[in-house]
Amino acid sequence: MHDADNLNPIPVGLDDGYACTKLALPDGRLLTIPSRARLGTSAVTWIQQAEQRIFEYETEDTVYSVGAVDGEPTHFEGYPWSGQNRAIVQHALQQAGLAGRTVHAVSGLPVSAFYRNNGEHRKDVIAKKRDSLKQAVRPRSSALAAGIAFHEVIPEALAAWYDHVIVEDGEGVTLDADRVAVPIAIVDIGGRTTDYVVVKDQGILHTASGSLQCGMLNVKQRVADGIQARFDLESLSEQLVAQAVETATVRLQGRNYDVEDLVEAAKREVVERIYVETRRQLGLGVELDRVLFVGGGTVALADHIADWFPHQAIAEHPAFANARGMLKYLRYVCEASDAA
Ligand SMILES: Nc1ncnc2c1ncn2[C@@H]1O[C@H](COP(=O)(O)OP(=O)(O)OP(=O)(O)O)[C@@H](O)[C@H]1O
Ligand SMILES: [Mg+2]
Repeated sequence: MHDADNLNPIPVGLDDGYACTKLALPDGRLLTIPSRARLGTSAVTWIQQAEQRIFEYETEDTVYSVGAVDGEPTHFEGYPWSGQNRAIVQHALQQAGLAGRTVHAVSGLPVSAFYRNNGEHRKDVIAKKRDSLKQAVRPRSSALAAGIAFHEVIPEALAAWYDHVIVEDGEGVTLDADRVAVPIAIVDIGGRTTDYVVVKDQGILHTASGSLQCGMLNVKQRVADGIQARFDLESLSEQLVAQAVETATVRLQGRNYDVEDLVEAAKREVVERIYVETRRQLGLGVELDRVLFVGGGTVALADHIADWFPHQAIAEHPAFANARGMLKYLRYVCEASDAA
């Protein structure tokens, strides 16, 4: 690496969600890792270094193992500014090849964590998140740390709006005036939360914006409960459950079992809750020009949400809409003087 590299910080869109941590990089790469870590060292040594699948990081004198570990739950209140979060983000930056580099990042908080009901910013929470990711995290290997030197926080679903209205093409970057001019709702179905944001005349309508604490992690929990009951198991690893939700089969004692009925029932239940909240927040959306669905849940639940509004659309690679919007916000909206 050349010294000049560090004079050129890398801008990164960093959507560090409760289920997955997504990065958008200026060269167009999109990268996701599960938000999966454990406190402490891994107690596994790797026979071949190239096969290493668990990585250890240290922050504030605490060691976390990230990667192919049995992940500790992320859905606790302080997760966005925890050491666990910092270790996972550092791992994502390492995976993106940013070891030793200086990074400028924009990340997000759920709408209800970012704003009070009256629309005021929750400044203390925003500052906690902003400062947390600027703290050092050291890989416990020969790898150099990636350092976040500039970090701004925006509401998660609003990031998807920036992605929608700032258009990059071969020619350059434009603000799509037609898209900015019309009222639109963004529905972000994530792991822990489903976020709603209505943007009209470049302002957020707080009466129709907010977060429902329901998402794909609820599906996972339901499926875990179902498998434990059906096979009379005392406990079940988090990775096994994640795989069961993804593939509708569970592998126990060397045999595959079909659990599609459990997965479908869990999805239906979660979809029902999200549907009710969507109608409560948006009604039929008659005054909206479009309802844009984003988030990984939009992919996982695509069949169930296909016909909620006649004017709905699913963003391109919906799981990355927020991360892309965060990168665009960083590059084209954050004042150049701040980021310099
Ligand atoms: N391409 C995909 N296909 C199927 N499922 C997916 C896909 N991408 C993501 N998911 C699933 O969707 C869920 C939600 O993903 P997402 O990345 O939006 O959550 P998150 O942003 O981490 O959560 P939150 O926004 O609540 O913090 C995850 O459990 C993930 O497994
Ligand atoms: Mg999310």
